[in-house]
Amino acid sequence: MVARVKTVAFQGIEAVPVDVQVMIQPGQTVMNIVGLPDKAVAESRERVRAALHASGLSIPPKRVTVNLAPADLPKEGSHYDLPIALGLMAALGAIPSDMLEDYVVVGELSLDGTLAAIAGALPAAIGANALGRGLICPAQCGAEAAWAGEDMNIIAPASLIALANHFRGTQVLSRPQAAIRQSAANLPDLAEIKGQETAKRALEIAAAGGHNMAMVGPPGSGKSMLAARLPGILPKLTSRELLEVSMITSIAGQLGEGRLCDQRPFRAPHHSASMAAMVGGGIRARPGEVSLAHNGVLFLDELPEFSPQVLDSLRQPLETGEIAIARANHHVTYPSRFQLIAAMNPCRCGMAGEPGYTCRRGPRCQADYQARISGPLLDRIDMRIEVPAVSAADLIAPSAAEPSETVAARVAAARLRQAERFSGSHVSTNATAPNSLIEAVAAPDAAGTQLLRDAAEVKRFSARAYHRILKVARTIADLDGADAVGRIHVAEAIAYRVAGERLAAAA
Ligand SMILES: Nc1ncnc2c1ncn2[C@@H]1O[C@H](COP(=O)(O)OP(=O)(O)OP(=O)(O)O)[C@@H](O)[C@H]1O
Ligand SMILES: [Mg+2]
Repeated sequence: MVARVKTVAFQGIEAVPVDVQVMIQPGQTVMNIVGLPDKAVAESRERVRAALHASGLSIPPKRVTVNLAPADLPKEGSHYDLPIALGLMAALGAIPSDMLEDYVVVGELSLDGTLAAIAGALPAAIGANALGRGLICPAQCGAEAAWAGEDMNIIAPASLIALANHFRGTQVLSRPQAAIRQSAANLPDLAEIKGQETAKRALEIAAAGGHNMAMVGPPGSGKSMLAARLPGILPKLTSRELLEVSMITSIAGQLGEGRLCDQRPFRAPHHSASMAAMVGGGIRARPGEVSLAHNGVLFLDELPEFSPQVLDSLRQPLETGEIAIARANHHVTYPSRFQLIAAMNPCRCGMAGEPGYTCRRGPRCQADYQARISGPLLDRIDMRIEVPAVSAADLIAPSAAEPSETVAARVAAARLRQAERFSGSHVSTNATAPNSLIEAVAAPDAAGTQLLRDAAEVKRFSARAYHRILKVARTIADLDGADAVGRIHVAEAIAYRVAGERLAAAA
């Protein structure tokens, strides 16, 4: 007899159904797993054997064959332990096999028969729900899986014995509750930043429209400080975004205690990050920083210090909002629609352009440093601002600064206007709107159009630059509460575009 158990394989954040077939035949005492298993799946043999033994069930001295179908789909990870163990138990008659028909099963086994947490419980639960089945997963993953559907059947036992008891009806497990982690209450506050009014205004616009932004300035002017205050003014994730973000975090195995978090991701990888760490890949093609920053912020501090190849690999996700990772035998795609915030010094010594300062290496100092960033990458950055050193007057006797709460309220109002405008489409911010749409909703008035035309002729904007200016202008108008984009909005948007002109010229 062949016992069958349904489980899943992950392809990106999608869960593809996999059939685990277990057959026990007379013959030599062996256990074979076939169907393109990777090392972790092949080793599952030993864990299953030990866990069953610890639970009081021994595999008979016969020939056991486990087939993972479809046979041409690579199977990676440790979550096949539990379906294989349950398949064996069903084949041995230890549990009724018809009880497994309504479930998708995932879970890793410890040698003592307890279940260990796995990565990807949320996508697995969503996949199971789509198949019209319930889910059996380890206890630690229950809270996360419960998000997949309110009336979905979920069993989250702590051990094989607990599961067997549940099926026998001697100790029925209750359905796990979906849990949410409250976002950290004490995020750093904007009011702590003295002066830097222009930079704060730009940060507010970037937050409101989800625009990419680069900050250039001398050491200690507060660039890293400004970026760290961005999470405090960004709106909370919507429920659809929350699920998207959590699926990626779940696949990456980074969902703490199985709780989802409604705060927007803010990823700040160090500049020594490798290509695989940034865009994803490596063993099991894990999501990289660009995907973990999906629907949130990717902050690259000291931008020119990143390897040029790593920076250029950001060009595709910045444009399309997803990243395709090619493997030897298949490829996976992860969503990666993030907002890029970058900070950098103008040159190696950090002081180029400061009044009364000349670089020791002359103009080459600045040119060489900035040449590490490619033109196409710069072209994708909507707003470039200079963050000069704080003046002594601002440091010693600063004027009253707005707290993050006030700014966050304005940002939320602007986001609401965008959500209403784009309702019905998958777009949520001006920055992510397709060009045709933005041309329709951000067409400036006559004076604004004239200004844009003049500036485009003088500055020779690329087609991408033109659309990105329109997007920023639309956001500025949204912050203003204006329905139409006026000359003043276009002017401010152009100013942010050309402020980094020195940067672009040097690159
Ligand atoms: N505008 C400011 N208001 C108050 N404190 C500031 C301001 N700017 C800088 N500081 C102080 O200086 C420290 C350094 O600032 P920060 O790390 O943000 O500088 P930076 O611009 O990122 O410099 P670098 O280019 O060297 O990375 C902060 O921890 C803070 O104490
Ligand atoms: Mg810094």
